[in-house]
Amino acid sequence: MLPGKRSPRIRLLLVFGALLALGLALSACTTEPETIIETVIETVVEQVEVTRIVEQPAETVVETVIEEVEVEVTRIVEVEVEAPVEEIPLPDNTAILASYAASPMGNNYDLGKGPNTYCSRCHSPQNWDPASTTDRPPNCVTCKFPTDEEVRMATTMDFVAEEDWVGIACETCHLMEGGISTGILAWLNQLTGEHEPVNSPNDLCTKCHLTSSGVSASGGTGVTHEIYLGGSAHKNWAGVLTDVHRPDLCSDCHDPHTQVPLQCDTCHAAVLTLDTHIKGTNEEHANVSCMACHDATEAEVAPHPDEEMGGEWVTVLNSIDRAGNPSSAAIVSHSPQWLVNCDRCHFAENPWELTELTAAGEEPADED
Ligand code: HEC
Ligand code: HEC
Ligand code: HEC
Ligand code: HEC
Ligand code: HEC
Ligand code: HEC
Ligand code: HEC
Repeated sequence: MLPGKRSPRIRLLLVFGALLALGLALSACTTEPETIIETVIETVVEQVEVTRIVEQPAETVVETVIEEVEVEVTRIVEVEVEAPVEEIPLPDNTAILASYAASPMGNNYDLGKGPNTYCSRCHSPQNWDPASTTDRPPNCVTCKFPTDEEVRMATTMDFVAEEDWVGIACETCHLMEGGISTGILAWLNQLTGEHEPVNSPNDLCTKCHLTSSGVSASGGTGVTHEIYLGGSAHKNWAGVLTDVHRPDLCSDCHDPHTQVPLQCDTCHAAVLTLDTHIKGTNEEHANVSCMACHDATEAEVAPHPDEEMGGEWVTVLNSIDRAGNPSSAAIVSHSPQWLVNCDRCHFAENPWELTELTAAGEEPADED
């Protein structure tokens, strides 16, 4: 309540007071002049139009007068109770715009990644033409492969030049207001041109980070980009029940605007120094990544194939390439589990000459 302003209730009381005085005055006219009005009550009659006055017999006591006076309110005086509701300002986009523009998703025009109206379904949704399909080999898609001198052109889709490339824009994931992101999540559906609601940030990420048949029409294998958040650890299938929020959203780890993820030890700093962790062999495993031990996908593990990585142990995918040569590539597993078998690496006659251990980390019993 602002100082100096009267509440409607006080006003009404004043009105009642005024009416009471009036009632008394009226009754005074018709009965003995013994009634003496001692107090003059401040009135605000000009605020309310009194449309009906019920006359009261002189004998009636004061309370009854008040009870039986009927006031028809014909005008409501608006009283300013609180400051007017201010419009919520749009969030400042400046910092996000800058960090996003420098991120892999915010800066993704690349002749080698299919700058065409077909592959753009995920790489630049607003350049996607749903009518485009793949062409016959060898020019299945408009793209420049590492071995190509020039971009090969498919006839079933259009090339998109850099200046026409929209990329993955703020409006792909957000409702906009006058070119500014409101921060509210929604998916811009290129088929309808309208935003659709999403239930969680994961609904957005998995629109593109998925496995699709893609170019299978031309015998290709499409894209295999599904990120599977499995494993018992963060789903708590097997672990200790805690109330702490386990990272089950992509954006729990990845900043959506830089895509940079939190590392395991950001949240699990304690295990680095815990003398019970890895049965007290933390130090021996300083060059073994968390996921080389905790991965639930049964991926193979080995020192990083890229020597620049200093031999850090990671999950790898070993395969035979088209020329028949074995090749090894580091892969990222998103499925951590609590259970770790020491013999994943310390198995008998392992190529790295690590001490042989059982799954539980014991010396093998039957050594002759
Ligand atoms: C279903 C969505 C989708 C479609 C369609 C798609 N991509 Fe991708 N593409 C992605 C995603 C997501 C990534 C990032 C993958 C990652 O890092 O796991 C990616 C990454 C790439 C990369 C980088 C290499 C890599 O694997 O990290 C290349 C090259 C590429 N895409 C080419 C293409 C070409 C060419 C086409 C058209 C034939 C295409 N993409 C169609 C979603 C898609
Ligand atoms: C791939 C989807 C995606 C794109 C593209 C994207 N964002 Fe976001 N944005 C998110 C997610 C996820 C959140 C987090 C929402 C949450 O945690 O509830 C978010 C949050 C925000 C917020 C509110 C919270 C904060 O961090 O301040 C703003 C503002 C925002 N984004 C602006 C932008 C702008 C500006 C762009 C373009 C440069 C952009 N976003 C592009 C997914 C995206
Ligand atoms: C419109 C499709 C699309 C959406 C939605 C999307 N991504 Fe992506 N994402 C891509 C493509 C395409 C790439 C590959 C970009 C490139 O390298 O050219 C990529 C790359 C990435 C990368 C790899 C960056 C690197 O290091 O190479 C991460 C991490 C990532 N996205 C996380 C996310 C997360 C988290 C979300 C949800 C908040 C999300 N993405 C939503 C299409 C998408
Ligand atoms: C527990 C944290 C965590 C969660 C949750 C998480 N990520 Fe990751 N993600 C990482 C880490 C750590 C890396 C490895 C980065 C590196 O080593 O460079 C990574 C790498 C990636 C990459 C690039 C590597 C690749 O496989 O090509 C993509 C793309 C990606 N994440 C997408 C996602 C998406 C989509 C989701 C949600 C479905 C998700 N991530 C959820 C932590 C997480
Ligand atoms: C955003 C924070 C966060 C990140 C990043 C994260 N975790 Fe977790 N993790 C948790 C929480 C919270 C729990 C459940 C509470 C707990 O047991 O500490 C958990 C549980 C676990 C557990 C099971 C513990 C138990 O007692 O059941 C393992 C193992 C684990 N995480 C491994 C990893 C690995 C490996 C990575 C990196 C790929 C990682 N975490 C990244 C937050 C995180
Ligand atoms: C050499 C294998 C190995 C490596 C590397 C490893 N761990 Fe573990 N971790 C284990 C084993 C085994 C357990 C089960 C408890 C035990 O016996 O110490 C465990 C347990 C855990 C737990 C459950 C808490 C607990 O004390 O029981 C968390 C969380 C965890 N690890 C996170 C991590 C993180 C984060 C990293 C990387 C910084 C990591 N681990 C690296 C083997 C490993
Ligand atoms: C992902 C692979 C991997 C797993 C799983 C693993 N280790 Fe190791 N461990 C190593 C590597 C690599 C070294 C050697 C480090 C070096 O060269 O100094 C090592 C070294 C050791 C050493 C020192 C003796 C030696 O062989 O060099 C002990 C003891 C040991 N590990 C115990 C364990 C126990 C106990 C477990 C299960 C809790 C375990 N390790 C699980 C990779 C692993």
